[in-house]
Amino acid sequence: MKRTKIIDLLAAQPGSEVCAKGWVRSHRGSKNVDFIALNDGSTIKNIQVVADAAKFDEELLKLITTGACLSVEGQLVESVGSGQAVEIQATAIEVLGTCGADYPMQKKGQSFEYMRQHAHMRLRTNTFGAIMRIRHNMAMAIHTYFHDHGFFYFHTPLITASDCEGAGNMFQVTTKNLYDLQKDENGQITYDDDFFGTQTALTVSGQLEGELGATALGQIYTFGPTFRAENSNTPRHLAEFWMIEPEMAFYDKQDLMDLEEDFIKYCVRWALDNCKDDLEFLNKMIDKTLIERLEGVLKESFVRLPYTEGINILQEAIKNGKKFEFPCNWGDDLASEHERYLVEEHFKKPVIMTDYPKEIKAFYMKLNDDGKTMQGTDVLFPAIGEIIGGSVREESYDKLMAEINRRGMDTTTLWWYLDTRRWGSCPHAGFGLGFERLILFVTGMQNIRDVIPFPRTPKNAAF
Ligand code: 4AD
Ligand code: MG
Repeated sequence: MKRTKIIDLLAAQPGSEVCAKGWVRSHRGSKNVDFIALNDGSTIKNIQVVADAAKFDEELLKLITTGACLSVEGQLVESVGSGQAVEIQATAIEVLGTCGADYPMQKKGQSFEYMRQHAHMRLRTNTFGAIMRIRHNMAMAIHTYFHDHGFFYFHTPLITASDCEGAGNMFQVTTKNLYDLQKDENGQITYDDDFFGTQTALTVSGQLEGELGATALGQIYTFGPTFRAENSNTPRHLAEFWMIEPEMAFYDKQDLMDLEEDFIKYCVRWALDNCKDDLEFLNKMIDKTLIERLEGVLKESFVRLPYTEGINILQEAIKNGKKFEFPCNWGDDLASEHERYLVEEHFKKPVIMTDYPKEIKAFYMKLNDDGKTMQGTDVLFPAIGEIIGGSVREESYDKLMAEINRRGMDTTTLWWYLDTRRWGSCPHAGFGLGFERLILFVTGMQNIRDVIPFPRTPKNAAF
């Protein structure tokens, strides 16, 4: 018999013969009848399988342990118990895969750290099932949003010879024999004999190539993995994370902020509209204020706050007795405690912070007339901190070159980027949304390692 997914069975009318396949969540037996909760990942909800003990071999029923994989045939009937409309009155049960008592997801209420150590099996739990379905739905929301708004999905390379953010925290890519590295007379490693004939690394951002796309196609977006070898062991950083980077010709700072806000709200609304069961589960089990917080974001207009005003607010707070671990004088990069103070305590809503000192931002941002600040537009979120980093781009060749030279950057790997400013340069802007940070917000999870199937962090590349 053809298998029906549990999500469809739960919505079906009782009366027909059905086949369900899935993994046992629980099995309890009384004298005459066994109840098996079966889940196949199509929904957070289980289907209840009812088996009359008299009709089944005792030895078979013993194999139906938590985690075992079953194929069940039977009649879909109205359920007398509360909690589900239908259940399966089993006529045949086949154990496809047994599951012994050493199954690591056996017990309920294991810590998240324990789950991370068993990341290959944690996907079979309710919580990780819910998170992964929401993750999928957010990816669909993102593609739908951009497609509907006339953006083109643009594929930028993962292997690159340039450092977009200029932070130097890149993973090198080489086919050189590390046990026998050739060096030149100055002790420098030579790369002309390497695979690409030049030093290459995994990209930290697709933005620079994205700008090439936007200044030809008008508006593009990327959606792919990015890599950062920053040794930040925090609940907000991964060494491999997914980033969405839209880039738009003819956008100014106002247009950019409007897009950032509209886009995030669209994603949150999509989650509320399409992931109801999973959100209700997470709201119950993980974070009792989750749905309220998601709905709250939709109602609020994001605050638009120049960095300088933000510093003033923080200084005022310090005067009134607020203690921060890190300093926040004009020119300092804000620490997450500062961002969270502004968002969670002062404004109590998302903040788009703008016009940062040029010393703390990347080279490509458009310089303001004051000569001191750049047109960055980061979005700061409650519980997350920075969720989007964006900016208007410097379109003037001379100003961009001046900034590159001031920073002492090497332009040999950037010549193609500079050409956009030489030929038909145009005002343009873009941003990067950290996909996992969005998933953190939407699921209410606390640790970024728990919203990607197989996290890559310092000292951890298992699975
Ligand atoms: O602020 P970032 O570094 O900006 C850029 O890379 C720009 N090139 C984006 C652009 O304008 N096209 O990174 C963008 C976002 C951050 O706001 C954050 O959400 C996320 O990427 N992010 C990380 N997420 C997880 N782990 C990390 N190590 C991250 N670093 C940045
Ligand atoms: Mg940033």
